[in-house]
Amino acid sequence: MTPDEMKQAAAEAALEYVESGTVIGVGTGSTANHFIDGLGRMKGKIDGAVASSVASADRLKQHGIPVLDLNQTGDLSLYVDGADEATRHLHLVKGGGGALTREKIVAAASEKFVCIADESKLVSVLGAFPLPVEVIPMARSYVARQLVKLGGEPVLREGFTTDNGNVILDVHHLEILNPVEMEELLDHVTGVVTNGLFARRPADILLLGGPEGVKSIS
Ligand code: 5RP
Repeated sequence: MTPDEMKQAAAEAALEYVESGTVIGVGTGSTANHFIDGLGRMKGKIDGAVASSVASADRLKQHGIPVLDLNQTGDLSLYVDGADEATRHLHLVKGGGGALTREKIVAAASEKFVCIADESKLVSVLGAFPLPVEVIPMARSYVARQLVKLGGEPVLREGFTTDNGNVILDVHHLEILNPVEMEELLDHVTGVVTNGLFARRPADILLLGGPEGVKSIS
């Protein structure tokens, strides 16, 4: 089984959580794309979706699924999205695709967050995957210096601008032993828009695709 097939298996399992007549939140990335394609086969089951990126909005529209504005929908019952790393405590690192800010907003506004991934994403300590931090462009160097003081090695994601017009610093070599504390610390650096730690609002359910099927952790 390839990693992509494992992602697809997790995405298919998440379709079980989709209830008729609802508006759901949809994430970004290759695993979320499998989920969107699955939604496309369930034509008319949902009333629409709130997308966490322009790319996901485009894919939803291609399937004929109405894309709605979170300001119009109010809170959502379900959010489904992938992750770059996940722990058994359901803490995540996200933002490999650069959509972390909108992802965090949609997750915050959702009652249930189902995270879908292949089993290679499960780790005991977060931080081997460089932590994405979205930054206001004029604060890039200032924020980078603060990240170095916190023990990280920030690297600018070259040639990349987020859907919000900002830049991403990928922070290497952080051993994240207390994800809630680190998430709060990073959010307090002036110029940081969001960081890719999802610990204060973790996933509620983690669906991990692997050769033996899909494991659920909650
Ligand atoms: C995008 C994300 C993605 O969920 C994360 O990067 C995982 O991507 P993929 O499903 O392609 O492995 O956070 O910002």
